[in-house]
This record gives sequence, C-alpha cells and structure tokens, in this order.
Amino acid sequence: SAKDGYNLWLQYDYIQNNELRLAYKSNISNILALGDSETMQVALNELQLGLSKMLGTEILSQKDLKGENLVIFGTQSNLDKKLIKKLKKELEQINNEGFIIKQIIIKGKKHIIITGKTDVGVLYGVFNFLRIIQTHKSIKNIDVLDSPKVDIRMLNHWDNLDRTVERGYAGFSLWDWHRLPDYIDSRYVDYARANASVGINGTAITNVNANALILTPQYLEKVEALANVFRPYGLKVYLTARFSAPIEIGGLKTADPYDAEVINWWKEKTKEIYKRIPDFGGFLVKANSEGQPGPQNYGRNHVDGANMLAEAVAPFGGIVMWRAFVYSEHDADDRAKQAFSEFVPYDGQFKDNVIIQVKNGAIDFQPREPFHPMFGAMPKTPLMMEFQITQEYLGFSTHLVYLPKLFEEVFEADTYRAGKGSTVAKVIDGSLHNKKITGVAGVSNIGNDRNWTGHPFLQANWYGYGRLAWNPHLNSGDIAEEWIRSTFSNDTHFINPIKEMMLNSRETVVNYMTPLGLHHIMDTGHHYGPGPWVENLSRPEWNPVYYHKADKNGIGFDRTNSGSNATNQYAPEVADIFNNTATCPEKDLLWFHHLSWDYKLKDGNTLWDGIALKYQQGVNEVETMVHTWKSLEKYVDNQRFNEVEMLLNIQHKESKWWRDACLLYFQQFSEKELPEGVEKPI
Ligand code: GCU
Repeated sequence: SAKDGYNLWLQYDYIQNNELRLAYKSNISNILALGDSETMQVALNELQLGLSKMLGTEILSQKDLKGENLVIFGTQSNLDKKLIKKLKKELEQINNEGFIIKQIIIKGKKHIIITGKTDVGVLYGVFNFLRIIQTHKSIKNIDVLDSPKVDIRMLNHWDNLDRTVERGYAGFSLWDWHRLPDYIDSRYVDYARANASVGINGTAITNVNANALILTPQYLEKVEALANVFRPYGLKVYLTARFSAPIEIGGLKTADPYDAEVINWWKEKTKEIYKRIPDFGGFLVKANSEGQPGPQNYGRNHVDGANMLAEAVAPFGGIVMWRAFVYSEHDADDRAKQAFSEFVPYDGQFKDNVIIQVKNGAIDFQPREPFHPMFGAMPKTPLMMEFQITQEYLGFSTHLVYLPKLFEEVFEADTYRAGKGSTVAKVIDGSLHNKKITGVAGVSNIGNDRNWTGHPFLQANWYGYGRLAWNPHLNSGDIAEEWIRSTFSNDTHFINPIKEMMLNSRETVVNYMTPLGLHHIMDTGHHYGPGPWVENLSRPEWNPVYYHKADKNGIGFDRTNSGSNATNQYAPEVADIFNNTATCPEKDLLWFHHLSWDYKLKDGNTLWDGIALKYQQGVNEVETMVHTWKSLEKYVDNQRFNEVEMLLNIQHKESKWWRDACLLYFQQFSEKELPEGVEKPI
C-alpha cells in the first residue's frame, strides 16, 4: 500500500532481515484467543494483521492448545487454575489496565502468554507485543510486565459541531456529525486503534469553548454511535459541558448552580446520557474563562460549579474535569498568577470525583514555560496535566517540533512541595500526595488530513503524548526511537540522525521564536509568526508588549519580589532559584527578570548579543534539519520524503522571518549592532 502516512506507527513493515524474521517465526506459530468479547476480537484482528505483515506469512487463529509456540492471549478469568498459579506473582503486580507478556511452558510445550485483569489490559499487552517486534527487539524468553501510572489518559478535541477545529491545523474534525449516527466512517475505528496502541483511554470529542447543542438528543444519538465504536478499544467518551446549557437548551432562566431547577436539569441530563452511553466518562468544563459562562456569573465560585456537576455524574461513576485556565481583565498585573489565586484557596473543597485540569505552564502553551505553580500546591485536590499537542504557538502543523521533549521537561521539574524530588510527574501520577484520581490530557493535533496530523513527523507528538500519559517517567529519546522504528525504518543509519533531529527540534523552536524565557510574542489572534510589536488590543494581557516589556532599559517580565511576585506562588526553594539571576536557569531568564541590554550572560555575552545569537542558532539548526533530511532520502518513500522536505524548507524560511522580525523590532530599544555571526536582515 502507498506510504501516505495513514497507517501512522502501525505500519507493520515486513521484516527484511532473514535471520531476524526466522528468529521471530521460530517463536510464533499460531494464535490462540481465550475469550470472545469484542475487545478480544479486536486484539485478535490486530495480532493477525501485524504478525502476518511483519513475518510475511499468514498467522492463523486456532481454537485449542495444539502444537507449540502459540501466542495465547486472554484475561486472567479465562486462564486455567494452573496457569493462574504460575503467573500469581506477576498478576499481583499489575493494575486493572496492566498486562503481562511472558514465555511459559504448558504441558512441556513453549508458548507466549499475553494476559491481564481486564480485556483492555490484554489489548494493551497485544499492542505492546506487536511494538516489540516492530522495533526489532528480541522475544526470546520474553518477560514483560507493565501498568499505566495514570488513570485517565485523555485526548481533548477542540472540535466544533460545524467540523472546524479550534487551533486545529490538520484539516477538519474527524467527527462527521451530518452523517452520524448511521454512517460509521472506518476512520473512527482506526482512530480508536491508534489510541489503544499507546494506551489513551478517554476522548473529549468537543471543544472546551462548548456548544450546548451537543447535549441535545439529536446529538447525543450521534455521540452514542461513536462511543459504540470506541468501546472495544477501551476508549471512553467525555463531553464538554457548557455551563449555561440549562438556559440555552433547557429553557430555564438561570444556570445558577444553587438553583434547584438547574441542579435537577443537570441530573436529568446526565441520566439521559448514561442511558445511551453506560460507560460515559463525564464532563470537561471551561468556565469563567475567556468569556465562557460559569458559576461566577451568579456570584458563585469554581467549587460550587464543579461540585454541582460532580453530584450529577457521581451515581454513574463519572468525573468532572474542571479547567484551571482562567484569567480576567480585572486583575491583570500578571496573568501568570491568576489560576493559582483562584484555585489554591479551595484546596480540599471539591468533591471526590472532581479533577482540576491545569495547563503545563501558567500562561498558555508557549514553546517554553516554567512549570505551573499549581502543581504540588493543592495536596488535597486531584490535579491533571493539560498539554497542547496541536501546535498553536509552535508553528502549527508546518514546523517540525518533537513535543515529548517539552512534556518530559515539565514532568521532570521539581516542585519541592514535599522536599527535593517532588517532581511534577509525581504530582500527576498521584504518588506525591496520594491522589485518588490521576489524569493527563492532551489537546489533539488530529484532523481529517490523510496523514491525520498534517505533518508526518507530528504523528510522533500524538504517539509520544500517549506513551507519556501512560507513564510520565518515560524517556523522550526512547519514545522517539520506538516511533521512528515503527513508522519509518529500523535501520540505525536512519534512526540515529533522525532521533537527534527530533530531540533537538524543541530547543530549536525556542531559539528561533522565544529564546531565554521570552514568551507570547507571536502575532495576535492566530498566533502564527512573530508579532512582538502588537500593543493595542483591548485587553492588556493579549498584547505581546505586555509579556516582553522591552524598552531602552532592557527586556523581560519581572516576576520576582521586586515585580509581580509570581515567584511567590512556588515553594520557597523554587522561588529562591527563580528570584535570583545567579540561580535562575538562563532558559527562563526573561520569564522572571527584566534585565538591561548589557546584562552579562554566563557565557560572557551581553543580553542583547545573547538574544541575537540564539535567534541565529535557531535558524542554523533548522538548516541542519534540512540537510539531515536530504541526506536520508534513500531510507524513505517518496511521498513522505517530499512532504517533509517541503515542510522543512518552509520552517527554514520562517525561522529567518522570526529572527529578522524580532531582532529588528528589539533593536529599536537596544540601539545596538548585531554581533558577529548573526546574519543581517536584508
Ligand atoms: C488558548 C487558545 C484558545 C483556547 C484556550 C483554552 O487561549 O488560544 O483558542 O480556547 O487556550 O485553552 O481554553
């Protein structure tokens, strides 16, 4: 089949290397499925497809334990007593979605068993087994055991009912509302497969800037159809709840969370949803943020709003994901402080099935932000991470940026909230404060483009996000390598340079867009390309000048105790590090400090020279990416090679645009020459 990217990382390429292929074959004959649930059927199909393609011979499914070297899979409840006894130790170590892949001997014959406590655990095991072969790892004496470290692993689609996608750059929404519920696009199945293959188990299919219509019977019927497709893949559906829905579609006069009719309306609505979708996940809510309605419209607070919805879904086991992305024009000395001020005082007041969804940084999905100060600061409230996989501020689907590197940096950051080593990863996996629910959300970069994500390499961000949601402690380099091997090639001549290119790409985008802690200087509204000069939008915190504060004296946002004191929202150890220019990491310097153009950086350069050199470095690095890709043409099919080549050329052109625009603009204030090595704009 054509290599157009449709098959994502599930290429299952034929293993050309004879020795390797024969080694696999000598350990794999047929498949034996125990149990026949829909999920087991899906697992069987995937195993047959993957193994047959990779081994180049049809792998059959058989009904009994004849022969040897079978790949046997099924849940614990389908295993016989002897086998359960044999696997007792392993079964004790996995959680409900975990799995075991192990070589075992039954009646003197060698087999491979894939098992877990639930159907979906087994499915995850099957995908893991396929990945081991896709990445050409040995299955001799195979012995793998794994469980997700986070309960809720979500994609958030910012998809509108007219199929436009807010901040979506890969075509229109996958959800064909017009033809649902009766027409089931086969793409829904492939979407669910791809998610299951990396362990994503939830999808909020509608925009956080929500339309109440999704909660009407006409739409719920369509949502139900999608939920039915996703269910065998362990993928639960969630919906965004517009807070004013009781007015808009319920005919009530108010949406006040204290009003008995409003409370009842949500209870009845929830019942109606669960009647159609018994495993409905719950609601995702953006309230009192950027003009969205919420409890504050009625003089109530976030706790009142979240708890009312939580009570409605609680009898059905549902949850409420209440977003902390709030900022208002009334309190705009520093937007970075607002979420913390609005939420932290309420720690411990939310119901058990509420989880607060916090963006990775305190502003908004910048190429680099210090970790959000809320992480670790609410020991009694479950907090979930919200990452943005779609590249709103990072060059849309045109620029190659490998985001797991960014995600990893956030997870590794130390909050010091329970002493040294209190990483964000431990806040998110619940281990730091023993949280009852844990979750990670990623704003999807998926659309109906043939290759799903617009840019072939941005599939790696969907993949890598899923892997890190499964386990926030994984290494982004290992993930990149898995992805390259499953998507393109197992040849190390290709893998090594491409892996390096991917791993550097995040720092590269920081260099040519927002070096040294600069942020939010993208052009306004669409956020594509530079716009540091924008200064006249109605709300101060929408203007890039608000963030860089460049003037004759210097540049940067003073968030220390001499400025907005946002650093005070971190643990004292962290605040000390950021407050002091000697200890503040230079990558975050201008996020926390306003410094003179002559300020001396650690390498001896002045701040002005340092900024200019970083912009140039970013451009040089993209040039290297272009060369690296060109040199590897023979390892890649034509279609994907050409697409990536054209996109990298655009990225190169636009990195120069960023450099020239920002340096020319800032130069008006610094009134200094560009240092040697920085190309002069024409
Ligand atoms: C950003 C983005 C909006 C989005 C918002 C959110 O501000 O530009 O399009 O609605 O984040 O996360 O709610």
